[in-house]
Amino acid sequence: MSGRIDVLVLDDEAAVASAAAGLFAELIRRKPNAVLGLATGSTPEPISAEMVHLYRDTGLSFAKARAFNLDEYLGLDGDHDQSYRFFMQKRLFDSIDIRAWNTFIFDGTALDPEQECRAYEAKIRAVGGVDLWLLGIGGNGHIAFNEPGSDPASRARVVTPDEETVKANSRHFADPSAVPTRAMTAGVGTILDARQIVLVATGAHKADAVAQALEGPRSSDCPASLLQEHPDCTFLLDSAAASQLC
Ligand code: GLP
Repeated sequence: MSGRIDVLVLDDEAAVASAAAGLFAELIRRKPNAVLGLATGSTPEPISAEMVHLYRDTGLSFAKARAFNLDEYLGLDGDHDQSYRFFMQKRLFDSIDIRAWNTFIFDGTALDPEQECRAYEAKIRAVGGVDLWLLGIGGNGHIAFNEPGSDPASRARVVTPDEETVKANSRHFADPSAVPTRAMTAGVGTILDARQIVLVATGAHKADAVAQALEGPRSSDCPASLLQEHPDCTFLLDSAAASQLC
């Protein structure tokens, strides 16, 4: 299977958020019980805000939708303010009509994390696969917590994020040394199985990773470049994130 990544360069973060949320709105209008793949991080934050706006002001309903999140820190309870579950509840789920039982995020306190990962894959299969997966990108080209070196066929699993990633994510923690050093993540293969993928990147600090992903070889050295083999993948970039493209 060979694909070609579509690239849309937009003026700013707001335009990227509106375009990304628009793709989800289009999908949900066409397929109300769609399976959404969602992401956390600073980049997707305005997208969640835009989805809340679409729900409140245009009547877009998530009542039948199912949602899976990419990743979660191992060891953090869903009530911990730095867990990705907490982020999703506060930024999106608590403000729209999605049903709690239709939101799937790894349980960071699962007693058997490997089993939690297998159950996550099984749930995705049970609902017929993800229709549209939203991704951010790390400065080193990671997607979810699939760091450089990740197997293109990898499935959900427990991982140890790179030092650079832990450092970048420590900006969200009051105590930077409290960033968990292990996480559960959808695999590259899990992500590539989605029918459609949209990766968002904003800011000059993402420009190098974006250029590697789009113009570098398809290689595990830059996990986002593995998206080149997907048949329906779009990168939504602001001009700063696109600044190193030829
Ligand atoms: C974390 C997440 C990724 C995310 C990345 C970039 O490491 N696991 O899924 O894409 O950060 O986040 P940001 O958008 O905050 O730069």
